[in-house]
Amino acid sequence: MQLGQVPRVRLGYWPTPLDELLRLSRYLGRPRLFAKREDLTPLALGGNKIRKLEYALAEAQAHRATTLVTSGATQSNHVRLTIAAGNRLGLKTIAVLRGHRPSAPTGNYLLDRMLGAAGLHFVDPRDHPSREDLVRATEARVQELAEELRERGEVPYVIPNGCAPLHGALAYAGCVLEMVHQFRELGLAPHAVVTACGTGGTQTGLVLGSLLYTQGELRVVGISVSAPATALRERIQRNLEEAVAFLGIPLDVPEGLIEVHDGYVGPGYGIPTPEMRDAVLLVSRTEGILLDPVYTGKAMAGLVDLVGKGAFDPEDVVVFLHTGGIPALFADAQAPTFQVLADPGEG
Ligand SMILES: Cc1ncc(COP(=O)(O)O)c(C=O)c1O
Repeated sequence: MQLGQVPRVRLGYWPTPLDELLRLSRYLGRPRLFAKREDLTPLALGGNKIRKLEYALAEAQAHRATTLVTSGATQSNHVRLTIAAGNRLGLKTIAVLRGHRPSAPTGNYLLDRMLGAAGLHFVDPRDHPSREDLVRATEARVQELAEELRERGEVPYVIPNGCAPLHGALAYAGCVLEMVHQFRELGLAPHAVVTACGTGGTQTGLVLGSLLYTQGELRVVGISVSAPATALRERIQRNLEEAVAFLGIPLDVPEGLIEVHDGYVGPGYGIPTPEMRDAVLLVSRTEGILLDPVYTGKAMAGLVDLVGKGAFDPEDVVVFLHTGGIPALFADAQAPTFQVLADPGEG
């Protein structure tokens, strides 16, 4: 099957903008940098989930779903955007959040409430000390809620945290095709794309797109925000095989194509690092573009470090995939990171 034949609903305006980062490139000395602005997707402050949800929600509609059931961290971008996308299509959304109910709503959790989530359930990490246990308990709660909905005559459609890997693969393969066209109009071809890597769905799609539309010439660099690189490489490989089988295309995935760096996670998922903070400030002060502290800030910290280590040729054209996540800048957990910035005074 051709990518263009897979059913999808329309949630964004495509292509998303491609911005050259002249001042940031000049500051770093090399290479030529662009940002692919997935953060400028139109729903509820945008992000990379919008492309994936176009496929997920087409499937939900085909199932005649009445309610979406999903899960994520308390400050999940995925949950915020699922509620927003559900609203566009007249579907209710119930979410299970990993964490304890915050005393004051901030960041994404505030927006989940503003967007009118039909239910926000919490699975408390204190009851599930290991991460695997917490994830298992969250998934079990999602299934319980789906069952309760069925008993009430509703039709639930479950969307996994971060969307199904297949939907990520289809979405971001499409994004590569979009970029190839955008660069062709500029008389350029991108050498590398750098992305934050959480569940790995986005990176899977970028690698698939690189194989389908650039003969594997586009290097895809993933910067982990949580899991070890080995685990992510294995997961992305499996996701790729699933996507290739779904599309029914004869495609070999060469060894060594999946590049993931896990040296920029710091103490853990969502925990700020000094390098993330510097990267967020650098991009906001050179380009006027905001990054987020959980995903794109750490990905940019990785990009800056890799540039410094000579990981790209000076003549390369490198794309930073801005995957969104801006509401997390305003989450209570992030307050100490940026609120301590000095007031510039009256200048
Ligand atoms: C802002 C942002 N960037 C990047 C990612 C990572 O995407 P993926 O889960 O497809 O690796 C996510 C979601 O997990 C996200 O919310």
